[in-house]
Amino acid sequence: MGIRITPSILNANLAALNDEIARIPSADAVHLDVMDNRFVPNLTFGLPVVQSVRAGTDKMLDVHLMIAGVDRWAPGYAEAGAESVTFHIEASDAPVKLARELRALGARASMALRPATPIEPYADLLDELDMVLLMTVEPGFGGQSFLDVVLPKLRRTRALLDARGGDIWLQVDGGISADTIERCVEAGADTLVAGSAVYSSADPDAMVRALRVSAEAVAAT
Ligand code: DX5
Ligand code: ZN
Repeated sequence: MGIRITPSILNANLAALNDEIARIPSADAVHLDVMDNRFVPNLTFGLPVVQSVRAGTDKMLDVHLMIAGVDRWAPGYAEAGAESVTFHIEASDAPVKLARELRALGARASMALRPATPIEPYADLLDELDMVLLMTVEPGFGGQSFLDVVLPKLRRTRALLDARGGDIWLQVDGGISADTIERCVEAGADTLVAGSAVYSSADPDAMVRALRVSAEAVAAT
């Protein structure tokens, strides 16, 4: 199982995003948290900022949309050149149509679930997707505590993906750190978002490398 470390810049200096991204050369992608103060009770940035980030880096962009009316807005992020666009299933009226649109625009299509949203009703959507994101905190803020309650769902999702075959990535996001990453990989995650753990570190890239070593050790067992 390949491991990907995809740091979130939510707790970095948002006024200097490209400089912050340049501090994590070992990262596989940069995770950009778009919030609208409707789907979640917090506001970050939107398409113009993502376009500016795109212009300043070749790093893979992993855009996590925590916005209402996502069917209307998500394709613009693919058009802006984000390699991966994640929509919340709770915010989408037509997820199959949306996933197909994202893929047609050349992006990876990804579906996110809040901690209490079950995976089973969406099992038939997996063929339309390149990644599933299971939130391990309530979306909205960085720096929250990891929710162990999501681990059984992570295992069930891994089983669904393995039964299906193919190469759909399984991402976790929220409270991922040196203390929690091993539990996530053991339960089946292969793509790990870490925000505050990386950017509160004096050497963010060293933390990315350390998280990768921990994750790969578990994945190898
Ligand atoms: C939360 C965001 C996460 C968050 C992760 O709604 O989706 O990406 O920034 O930050 P940490 O790792 O601090 O929980
Ligand atoms: Zn996120």
